[in-house]
Amino acid sequence: MSYPTLFSPTTIGGVPVRNRIAHASIVSRFVREGRATDRLVNYLASRARGGAGLVITEPVAMTFANRSPQRLRGWDDAGLDDLKRLAAAAERWDSRLLGQVQDPGRGRHATGRNDNAIGASALPDDLSWTVPHALTPARIRQLIDEWAAGCRRLKAAGFSGVEISAGHGHLFHQFLSPWSNRRTDGYGGDLGGRTRFLRELMAAIRAACGRPFIVGLKLPGFDGVPGSIDLAEAGRIARAIAATGDVDYWTFVWGAHARSLWLHMPGPAGPRAPYLAQIRELRQAEPSIPTGAIGYITDPNEAERALTDGTADLVFLGRPLITDPAWGEKARTGREGAIRYCVSCNTCWRTVIEGTRLECDNNPRVGEPDEVDWQPPRAAVTKDLAVIGSGIAGLEAAWVAAARGHRVTVYGAADEPGGKTRLHAEVPGGEHLSSIYDYQQLACREHGVQFRMGVPVDAAMAVALPADVVILATGSSMSVPVFVPAEYVAEGFVPDLRSLLVSLRGRTTQESGRLVLFDQDHTEMTYGAALKLLDRFAKVTIVTPRERIASDMALLNRQSIYQQLFDRRVEILTNAEPRSLDGLEDGRLTLFNVYNGDSMELDDVAAVTFATPRVPDDQLRGVLEAAGREVYLVGDCYAPRSVLAATRQGYEVGMAI
Ligand SMILES: Cc1cc2nc3c(=O)[nH]c(=O)nc-3n(C[C@H](O)[C@H](O)[C@H](O)COP(=O)(O)O)c2cc1C
Repeated sequence: MSYPTLFSPTTIGGVPVRNRIAHASIVSRFVREGRATDRLVNYLASRARGGAGLVITEPVAMTFANRSPQRLRGWDDAGLDDLKRLAAAAERWDSRLLGQVQDPGRGRHATGRNDNAIGASALPDDLSWTVPHALTPARIRQLIDEWAAGCRRLKAAGFSGVEISAGHGHLFHQFLSPWSNRRTDGYGGDLGGRTRFLRELMAAIRAACGRPFIVGLKLPGFDGVPGSIDLAEAGRIARAIAATGDVDYWTFVWGAHARSLWLHMPGPAGPRAPYLAQIRELRQAEPSIPTGAIGYITDPNEAERALTDGTADLVFLGRPLITDPAWGEKARTGREGAIRYCVSCNTCWRTVIEGTRLECDNNPRVGEPDEVDWQPPRAAVTKDLAVIGSGIAGLEAAWVAAARGHRVTVYGAADEPGGKTRLHAEVPGGEHLSSIYDYQQLACREHGVQFRMGVPVDAAMAVALPADVVILATGSSMSVPVFVPAEYVAEGFVPDLRSLLVSLRGRTTQESGRLVLFDQDHTEMTYGAALKLLDRFAKVTIVTPRERIASDMALLNRQSIYQQLFDRRVEILTNAEPRSLDGLEDGRLTLFNVYNGDSMELDDVAAVTFATPRVPDDQLRGVLEAAGREVYLVGDCYAPRSVLAATRQGYEVGMAI
């Protein structure tokens, strides 16, 4: 076996665990009116079946005050049957199910304030400026009793333990931090006071549930808030908590409800698995406590190394197991190539914060019943299919259709498949996206898809293709802003952002002036491109008519992008737009405020580019339909869309034919 330590059994808090893989707690929005939906049961069961020896649930409402239609009901016996159902679904695969104990306190990342917030002190949350009700000692004791009773209920339902989320800037973290806890009573002040709430909670859970029953902890590592918890303070907190003797395992997490929120889900900026060295250091607070490594560990080799080099005893995977629940089983059985890897886009996080339920750019089947090792069902009638376009929507449709028995040929104008996602993977922060089309290509090959690359398909060729069905995946083009003369674009004088990137491929020349990027896109690729273009231009200025940039990105990606753009001194001008390019030949561009029309002059302008709403490149549709072909449109050529929508649509069309 390639990963002997990863798949070695262990014992946590007296409970046998079959391997070292833990599914980190993930809010799913699969709970409705406090009830577990089938999708939640499927989701957890698939992570257990797919190879996680430990599965941590999303937070369970164990106090009456914490109840919510979107949280499992752990505060009274009415929720017991659901909890039993979940425990049975995971434990039947020899996985240990742990319920998460969490209250957000004053923390909030949606817009607005949290009117029900409780906290250590009446001080504003760093993100939402929610000021919580400061808990009295009597109320703290009451809540601890409720949590302990909730944990007892979980035990009765068949859970093997609980995990207390005391990181991520939530309530217990707020008590631990000298920044948010300014109490002068016994629950604040020195280390003993700030850790008291958590220590008493653990003691109460232990008294209620006894042993063996796993009590795990997520503790803050570096939280990125000045005056709060740095690595040294995290070590001191860990030592104080370890002294209770009640900790069965711990993990350390980064960031807080602040500008540092993005640190808790690393990936788009910076290296993979970035926190291992610090976790190794924190583990020394009490080496006998099993330590979990967490933070964008995506590859089984990285996981094995973290277990053998003294970093950790367990590896916690959050996003990687959303993308592929069978990550563990595939690694165990030598099928690493078949793992669908997390690309750290954080779409999952955006979908649970802003959307209706957990979704994934690289897994269109999150929470389906047969998610582990799902194989597309065979089509009743198999056909010859031509896929025109080799972006991620076309590739997804191609492999799914081929797996169903259709004979599929992909025609791509570029030399390599991947479409605009391949271009995105060339800019900072987009690198991991290559895993999407790499997986799709492997799946295509496995199912016999033929590729004709470097072959632009025109109307005559399209109608002559030997196919019963044509899937058009021909993408989109950026619309030309009204202030740009069409001939400037045609002559390449003012290229759109994608064309500019392509034209600069392999070039190392540096322009002395500034590049102006007109931004009506507001997604990741535009800002990755801005960072990349800093290598070519002395200065990059982003101009947008909206009130801020990056407004269509998840909050944490936006924070990360702002951090990088400001670090590299990219200029950001909001509420502004040009009305013409007069003066550009002399290096000048005039911008106008979109509200009052006030103008400002930019000088030293070497080039202008634009990232604008895209228009579908669906010109082949008419001729194909006139020729009597069955035609499907996927991806941008259907309507310009996100990676999430593109892979999903490719999958749905592949299933529909
Ligand atoms: C969609 C989503 C929801 C999450 N919900 C929770 C949660 O409810 N409780 C928690 O402690 N952590 C939560 N996390 C954080 C993860 O447990 C984990 O700490 C983080 O994703 C880093 O691990 P990863 O890099 O393996 O994804 C969530 C993460 C994501 C992506």
